[in-house]
Amino acid sequence: MCGIVGAIAERNITAILVEGLKRLEYRGYDSAGLAVFSNAGLLERCRRVGKVSELEQALADEPLAGQLGIAHTRWATHGAPSERNAHPHFSGHDLAVVHNGIIENHEALRERLKGLGYVFSSDTDTEVIVHLLEHKLQELGDLTVALKAVVAELHGAYGLAVISAKQPDRLLAARSGSPLVIGLGHGENFLASDQLALRQVTDRFMYLEEGDIAEIHRDGVQIWDVAGQPVQREQVQYRDGAEAADKGAYRHFMLKEIHEQPQVVQRTLEGRLGADHVLVEAFGPQAAELFAKVRNVQIVACGTSYHAGMVARYWLEELAGIPCQVEVASEFRYRKVVVQPDTLFVSISQSGETADTLAALRNGKARSATDGRYLASLAICNVGISSLVRESDLTLLTQAGPEIGVASTKAFTTQLVALMLLTLALGRVRGSLAAALEAELVDELRRLPSRLDEALALDKAVEKIAELFAEKHHTLFLGRGAQYPVALEGALKLKEISYIHAEAYPAGELKHGPLALVDSDMPVVTVAPNNELLEKLKSNLQEVRARGGQLIVFADQQAGLGNGEGTHVLAVPHICDALAPILYTIPLQLLSYHVAVLKGTDVDQPRNLAKSVTVE
Ligand code: F6R
Repeated sequence: MCGIVGAIAERNITAILVEGLKRLEYRGYDSAGLAVFSNAGLLERCRRVGKVSELEQALADEPLAGQLGIAHTRWATHGAPSERNAHPHFSGHDLAVVHNGIIENHEALRERLKGLGYVFSSDTDTEVIVHLLEHKLQELGDLTVALKAVVAELHGAYGLAVISAKQPDRLLAARSGSPLVIGLGHGENFLASDQLALRQVTDRFMYLEEGDIAEIHRDGVQIWDVAGQPVQREQVQYRDGAEAADKGAYRHFMLKEIHEQPQVVQRTLEGRLGADHVLVEAFGPQAAELFAKVRNVQIVACGTSYHAGMVARYWLEELAGIPCQVEVASEFRYRKVVVQPDTLFVSISQSGETADTLAALRNGKARSATDGRYLASLAICNVGISSLVRESDLTLLTQAGPEIGVASTKAFTTQLVALMLLTLALGRVRGSLAAALEAELVDELRRLPSRLDEALALDKAVEKIAELFAEKHHTLFLGRGAQYPVALEGALKLKEISYIHAEAYPAGELKHGPLALVDSDMPVVTVAPNNELLEKLKSNLQEVRARGGQLIVFADQQAGLGNGEGTHVLAVPHICDALAPILYTIPLQLLSYHVAVLKGTDVDQPRNLAKSVTVE
């Protein structure tokens, strides 16, 4: 995903911009560039396809120096990865813009601007912004006033950084749907899409809010809110220890990563939502065209990522009406699969280096070369520079940040968010999802981070319940519908870090065998959102109680389930049914964590397991 860095200072800022881009490399990109207002009084730029190191080499060969500049790593959405499509984009010689996000009305704007005589030199949506700004500037005279007029005409998502050779006293920023943070220095100030990019130069930050426009000078910052009113944004100071590879105040990485979920889910949504719909271009330049042809989805993944795929099958079939198959990659790679025509091949992986998932993708591509039934491959992945991403046609990066704990937590919930975005995008492009339902779910997605915060508040109550498990050897997890894969994920988490044997079943399967295991020594964990399956689930719970089984139920506040003898109910915040699998994952992660802590296991590095399984 794209990254932005900007700086205004009294020293040469080129090295700061390049270092900032390097710190954003982990997010994934295909080209990089920067523009500086040079000491000669001109805007000069350097752009390269490929790594930031190539940009750095080009700058070593032909140095650029200046005290005002913007830089960017691009992840192609409109227009293939190429030097001419890389940012910054210019209008004439005096105006430069870098942009994260997607401008949906770029075609209409492009036509209008061509009519006004502007000549386009790239295929990007971004270039309309810089020409429109130039046009407004001629009319209005002041860069900040012109930028305010420009953003009023943009539909979609953007984080923008702007500089002009005519007003080199300022660096401008605008945020809507794509994050931006101002880094505060002494006699110098900075801008970035992620504070990590600026930790080299400052530890004081000011986060822009939705609709904010900022005018950043060397010695001060002025911000206007969405209504155009001047506002102050709070200053935040980061101390050492706030880095991703540091546990901070947490006892284990796993607990830290569980608690990061509201934030990383938010990040995964950023730049990908329009007012009432998912921005299809977030999946890549050809996504809209390809998605319109999709008639089937084949998902492959391993472990936790496979469970995310299983949830997605419910969503794709129920919400988007698309047939979907899901298979563990280690099986898929050796099977003679019968592929339906027009299948989208989706691989899901945190690391993007899992040997079985990669092999499954390669097999899928080889098959596609012979029978042409796979339309395209899409990687849902957390590592932008991974093999899986490089070898897939389309990518949607989860923005979970580095996951250090071997047991996957935040990668799973961000995968689910990415898969919900895929469901909504496919449903709309194919015309199988009602616009009103998409708008409703987009709204629910926006509220999801705060729902996750509420679910995390169950931590203490879950810690107490964990005591019930400390002496047990076996556990059963039950769920129905899309909560069945959530139960599978809960069981996987518990077994891998606490070494307690755990199995998961669809609750309706209980009486077809596993009920024989239930007695007072077998805790039964159930996830019970308030949906049309609730009454059926309640009967399954009765079956457990009748055999003396201990029930631990994570239930919707409105589910009408209460504590009783042998029944412990923990109320989960209410959420719409579609997003319930994401929310109900949280208490199950907390449960496995606290049980493991009670048992004294090595939570972050459980025995026999590796974080990235790069061998078969
Ligand atoms: C479980 C876990 C594993 C991984 C699996 C796939 O907590 O982390 O089951 O999910 O090894 O890894 P990725 O997602 O990197 O392909």
